[in-house]
Amino acid sequence: MLSSFACSALVIAFIGLTSANSIQGSNHPISNDIVCPTNSRVSFVHNSYTYNAPLQKFTDITGSFFNISWYDGTVVTSTIGTDNVPGATRSGTFAGGVFNETLTAMDKRSDALIFSYHGNNYTFTPGPGYPSSLVTLDSYTETIRFESICGGKATYIDVLTYVCSDNQPLAYSLWSMIHTSTFDGLAMSFGATILAGDCPCA
Ligand SMILES: *[C@@H]1O[C@H](CO)[C@@H](O)[C@H](O)[C@H]1NC(C)=O
Ligand SMILES: *[C@@H]1O[C@H](CO)[C@@H](O)[C@H](O)[C@H]1NC(C)=O
Ligand SMILES: *[C@@H]1O[C@H](CO)[C@@H](O)[C@H](O)[C@H]1NC(C)=O
Repeated sequence: MLSSFACSALVIAFIGLTSANSIQGSNHPISNDIVCPTNSRVSFVHNSYTYNAPLQKFTDITGSFFNISWYDGTVVTSTIGTDNVPGATRSGTFAGGVFNETLTAMDKRSDALIFSYHGNNYTFTPGPGYPSSLVTLDSYTETIRFESICGGKATYIDVLTYVCSDNQPLAYSLWSMIHTSTFDGLAMSFGATILAGDCPCA
């Protein structure tokens, strides 16, 4: 059990974090957390990537909610609503399942592109290169942030996915693999390399 001293220290630390967040504005515009149905548990997948290319190289390709050919070659076959306006939905097939996703936030700025969406239940049928079991996702949310860094010479990408599933370890590894192949593939499509540490020279 925590001593009351430790508890008040935690409360103070928590208040400190909360107010720092409200001053700076959270990096994630909406709460991404989700409530899972019974027999399903939430897990989160957080990946980040840094590439040696300006933000606009990425956002020229990723700036439309209705076009996600950059996301592991995903084809959107039906849409409802207005592109990039929260409430719009997109649907299509991916890895043997039908996805149906609703845009919940879209923030385009000169130095960043941030968006969130919520996905309905979906069954993933893995193909070659992926673990072999079926995974049922009861729902998921994903927030993706593309941010200009290194004085505009490079781009930082942050992906946070919350997923309700019947198999957390498998859901985690599948999604992490998809993120990495998606963002490495996107960067490679215009010749950007992984930024290992230092900002590129002037
Ligand atoms: C979707 O985006 C890709 C990459 O930018 C582009 O080549 C393609 O023409 C776009 N498709 C549609 C239907 O706009
Ligand atoms: C997504 O699912 C909802 C609820 O089932 C449905 O009304 C909507 O038509 C679907 N969206 C698309 C683009 O198919
Ligand atoms: C999603 O849930 C609905 C309602 O429970 C069900 O009818 C549908 O078959 C499910 N779809 C998938 C892909 O699991």
